[in-house]
Amino acid sequence: MQIITEPAEMQSIAESLRLQHQFIGVVMTMGALHNGHLSLVRIAKQKAGTVIMTIFVNPTQFGPGEDFHRYPRPFEQDAALARSAGIDYLFVPSPEKMYPEGFHTTIDPGPISSLFEGRSRPGHFSGVATVVVKLLNITQPHIAIFGEKDAQQLTLIRKVTGELNIGTKIIGAPIARESDGLATSSRNIYLSSSEREQATVLYRGICHAEIETGEGRTDLAVIAEEAESLIRSMPDADPDYVSFVDDETFEPADKALPGKAYRLVMAVRIGTTRLIDNWRFVCP
Ligand code: PAF
Repeated sequence: MQIITEPAEMQSIAESLRLQHQFIGVVMTMGALHNGHLSLVRIAKQKAGTVIMTIFVNPTQFGPGEDFHRYPRPFEQDAALARSAGIDYLFVPSPEKMYPEGFHTTIDPGPISSLFEGRSRPGHFSGVATVVVKLLNITQPHIAIFGEKDAQQLTLIRKVTGELNIGTKIIGAPIARESDGLATSSRNIYLSSSEREQATVLYRGICHAEIETGEGRTDLAVIAEEAESLIRSMPDADPDYVSFVDDETFEPADKALPGKAYRLVMAVRIGTTRLIDNWRFVCP
């Protein structure tokens, strides 16, 4: 595995790989690698001959008071995991290389970026869209794999890359979960042991919705309220939002219509740690 820190060098390697007809897959991360990331790598490796991983804790997607400075950066451990997962190139730029003095260009992904995660984290999705487009331009991949845990991010990346005619195919990967249902996340390490136990309530909220919709209920707003009350029953859980949305637009959805896809999305603070999760269903 080759470790690259210079954007120009990564881009020229990607260009020469393309000239050699290599099929390139990319997995973008902010490091602190866990099973979720490794499941994205497995998909990339099944589909692509050369796999690039990027590790960049992108400052522009963190708001003031968020965890940018304390975000875990276990680089040696990440590099070892990436190497054993079979990554060919690990691209690890510094913020100064990505955003040199005088950098101003940003992407505005439109209305979806002010809903849910975007409403709670102003500027977050513009930061994500801008860095993703930069990383796509630098790594020149044929495919890029993103986890469905960040479902709103995935929808937005599909929209931005489509609208900007970026040729990379965006592939969504299923949410990786711990054995008790908690979605894997680099932020799970912030949880104390009592918070870690309480955090399973997000998945229990999802199971409630799955059971109720499975029984034919279509009153999505009420089901989401029930899931939210279940989550609130944990002493340290403070839901930011728990809502069904239209799976394409992320507009809130109150009632399920036959044949349409919806997603239950949630962001919940457990103590001081903000966790997100979601579940997609198609109304029969
Ligand atoms: O999902 C993430 O880890 C980040 O938002 C991403 C896509 C790597 C952009 O910084």
